[in-house]
Amino acid sequence: MDMTYNLNGGFKPTTKRFADLDGPDFFPTPAWATHALIDNEAFQGDIWESACGNGAMSDVLAQASNSVRSSDLYDRGFGESGIDFLNTSQSTDNIVTNPPYNAAEGFVKTGLVAAKKKFALLLRLAFLEGANRQRSIFSVSPPSRVWVFSERITFYPAGATVKGTGTTAYAWFVWDKDATGTELKWFKPGYKATYS
Ligand SMILES: C[S@@+](CC[C@H](N)C(=O)[O-])C[C@H]1O[C@@H](n2cnc3c(N)ncnc32)[C@H](O)[C@@H]1O
Repeated sequence: MDMTYNLNGGFKPTTKRFADLDGPDFFPTPAWATHALIDNEAFQGDIWESACGNGAMSDVLAQASNSVRSSDLYDRGFGESGIDFLNTSQSTDNIVTNPPYNAAEGFVKTGLVAAKKKFALLLRLAFLEGANRQRSIFSVSPPSRVWVFSERITFYPAGATVKGTGTTAYAWFVWDKDATGTELKWFKPGYKATYS
């Protein structure tokens, strides 16, 4: 059964990206979405892309730091493989990634310890909701900045034909060891056209 269609035949807007929700969840991030981050957030020192997939995000991050480490739990033909970020004890200056959908909370928990300066995760905007997250993340370690996309990101499996636009709102969540409080910010429109 095609789970993207309602029984009445209408296309069902996705609240989740097309994802294998229980699996490794490999969806490369369009370059423009990473450009939006590095145009607005400075990174001092090393950056670790800790769920790098095929390097779509790492390639853009290389413009923000001359020291980008890339790793993934799985071998996607890019960077180091076999590194489980959820069980790492390694640390670095900055960590930037788009984590697997089903392990976002675990990535936040690990990243807060592992990043010495900034920790940035591309997450659904709806990640802000939820009683469990309020208790376990936001009341204890709220992000320093939430950058809301004014343009929709569409995630496709690697190699798929890109067409149409997504229905899910995403944001960059940035934890910055040098900041206090939480700021809500919006990216200016135009990144999609400039960097696609
Ligand atoms: C949504 S994809 C994003 C890939 C890349 N960050 C990007 O933005 O293009 C999530 C990636 O997380 C990897 N992954 C899943 N569980 C992981 C874990 N525990 N530790 C490290 N990487 C993991 C998957 O193999 C997949 O490549």
